[in-house]
Amino acid sequence: CERYTTLSKNKQQQHTKELQNRTTVTMIPGDGIGPEISAAVMKIFEAAKAPITWEERNVTAIKGPGGRWMIPPDAKESMDQSKIGLKGPLKTPIAAGHPSMNLLLRKTFDLYANVRPCVSIEGYKTPYTDVNLVTIRENTEGEYSGIEHMVSERRPSVRQLKAERVTVGCPEQRGVLRMSDGLFLRKCREVAENYKDIKFTEMYLDTVCLNMVQDPTQFDVLVMPNLYGDILSDLCAGLIGGLGVTPSGNIGANGVAIFESVHGTAPDIAGMDLANPTALLLSAVMMLHHMGLHDHADKIQTACFDTIRDKKVLTKDLGGSAKCSEFTAEICRRVQDLD
Ligand SMILES: *[C@@H]1O[C@H](CO)[C@@H](O)[C@H](O)[C@H]1NC(C)=O
Repeated sequence: CERYTTLSKNKQQQHTKELQNRTTVTMIPGDGIGPEISAAVMKIFEAAKAPITWEERNVTAIKGPGGRWMIPPDAKESMDQSKIGLKGPLKTPIAAGHPSMNLLLRKTFDLYANVRPCVSIEGYKTPYTDVNLVTIRENTEGEYSGIEHMVSERRPSVRQLKAERVTVGCPEQRGVLRMSDGLFLRKCREVAENYKDIKFTEMYLDTVCLNMVQDPTQFDVLVMPNLYGDILSDLCAGLIGGLGVTPSGNIGANGVAIFESVHGTAPDIAGMDLANPTALLLSAVMMLHHMGLHDHADKIQTACFDTIRDKKVLTKDLGGSAKCSEFTAEICRRVQDLD
């Protein structure tokens, strides 16, 4: 009996320690297929023993004091504490009378940079192979809001970009840039001055589009203001198979970051166990890298890509006939096999 108590005490301490080492992430499941794909991601994270504690928060637009639109205080407080969020798709009903939920989140947490890696997925056929680029889009200013804003504080995004590319062993780098003119371009040049090891090129958007469809492998990193970035980041997602397989991260002020799938809520298949969780899962993998949990990130990404390459258990949009839960279970099985 005594021995049992000691054992369970040790176990308890171990459990407490594990809990202390866990990091809290705010999970915003979203609307439509959001709850299903969020549940899929949480299952896969559990299978991978990723040390994450999820704090689920629903985000809707509510009217605050003075009639100002805001997100619910419990969601705001959770994000303020955790600084890291994972978010499924949010619907903004037409004629809802409030701003887009995504815009509201961007403004609330000053998520100034949208980062999207577009990497060809082996075994998922598209007209292009070997695409491996990152689009970085200014997210809060520019053409969409009509205000040009100081970009001088935006340096962290450039730092992060540098670190990312260096770790993937890409010595010669190109930052490609086309600005309307003015402040954004000037600030980019200034920042580039401080990173001479990164090759910095300025290009017009039309030339980028032309060259992109001719040979996307010539591009590495693209930095763009809001409107150009909106267009080109979706174009690049199209090169690797669309928004259903493209991850995305929003980097903000004060160390806040929200990772998200950028596809829609797909209300036509919501609740039917047919959705593809890949985009949200790969966004969650980006999140793990952001948190320095590279081993867990690699394991989950490998299991996901192996599942896609193997072609046996795929959701309908990926060309298969499996349900979301079956695709998820297959990734979980592979994650556990990697241990
Ligand atoms: C979020 O909303 C859903 C649907 O209304 C509800 O089932 C769930 O309990 C809510 N979750 C939280 C954390 O409030």
